[in-house]
Amino acid sequence: MELRLAENIARFRKSRGYTQEELAKRLSISSQAVSKWENAQSLPDISLLPALAGLLETDIDTLMGYIPKKKAVTPYEERYKIEEYYWGTMPGEMCLELLRRCYPTRPLRLLEVGCGEGKDAVFFARNGYQVTAFDVTESGIEKAKRLADIHQVEVNFFRADLHDYRLDEEFDVIYSSGVFHHILPELRREIMENYIAHTAPGGMHAINVFVEKPFIPVPPDSDGGENWVSGELFTYYRDWLLEECRETVFDCRSGGIGHKHCMDTVFARKLPENGGKENGGF
Ligand SMILES: C[S@@+](CC[C@H](N)C(=O)[O-])C[C@H]1O[C@@H](n2cnc3c(N)ncnc32)[C@H](O)[C@@H]1O
Repeated sequence: MELRLAENIARFRKSRGYTQEELAKRLSISSQAVSKWENAQSLPDISLLPALAGLLETDIDTLMGYIPKKKAVTPYEERYKIEEYYWGTMPGEMCLELLRRCYPTRPLRLLEVGCGEGKDAVFFARNGYQVTAFDVTESGIEKAKRLADIHQVEVNFFRADLHDYRLDEEFDVIYSSGVFHHILPELRREIMENYIAHTAPGGMHAINVFVEKPFIPVPPDSDGGENWVSGELFTYYRDWLLEECRETVFDCRSGGIGHKHCMDTVFARKLPENGGKENGGF
């Protein structure tokens, strides 16, 4: 497990509006101690953790970046426990389109958010990307690792909850399919800004999200997410090049009963510093 305590303390402290000094005062410790925690130079004393988590309005597990085994935040934890692959093992339809737009002539660093059982992440790894991928489900990540083994590719799969996990390294491509409706509305901006800030100049986001349409009823196998407003996804990319943005209504048979979805999809490129005049992306 990757310990993410340092960055989580800093992130929660800022979002709760405390300075290092204020937090230190409330815990009756020095502000230097808080500064050292946030720079990963030392760890808080274990006896301080309950008070620290309480002040930051979170819990100790979240602060540590740990997802308890029993915490089922999504019905997919159970759905992925079947022997066969719930979503199959063929890559999703955005994968080939991304490959065409961002051909990995060098090993591009790709992050998949909400990789499920790993079919898309493994496809990208097989095509030469350097892939990192996470999902909140333990059952999904286990199957994803198995799929990577079958295809003899390396993928950095790990378990994380997108609400608690923030990027601290840069990626060339951020890809996500059918996941962003799980982001709590109040965290959408913060998470999108974190992904945008950690995308390399010339890099790309290939993302789709389910959107609300009054004429489409809630699907019978609803997974508890909250659909975005139509067009909302595109608003995050005002200063990027929108190579493609589209809205589609399609039929689906997940869960065995026919139903419809509406989805917004974006392929957006972060312009290099020179505005794309020279060496415009890859
Ligand atoms: C509709 S599935 C899509 C899976 C995968 N992207 C695919 O296309 O096969 C949604 C995925 O989002 C994941 N998910 C739901 N909530 C999450 C969260 N809070 N953090 C990370 N992943 C989450 C689920 O476990 C599930 O794998």
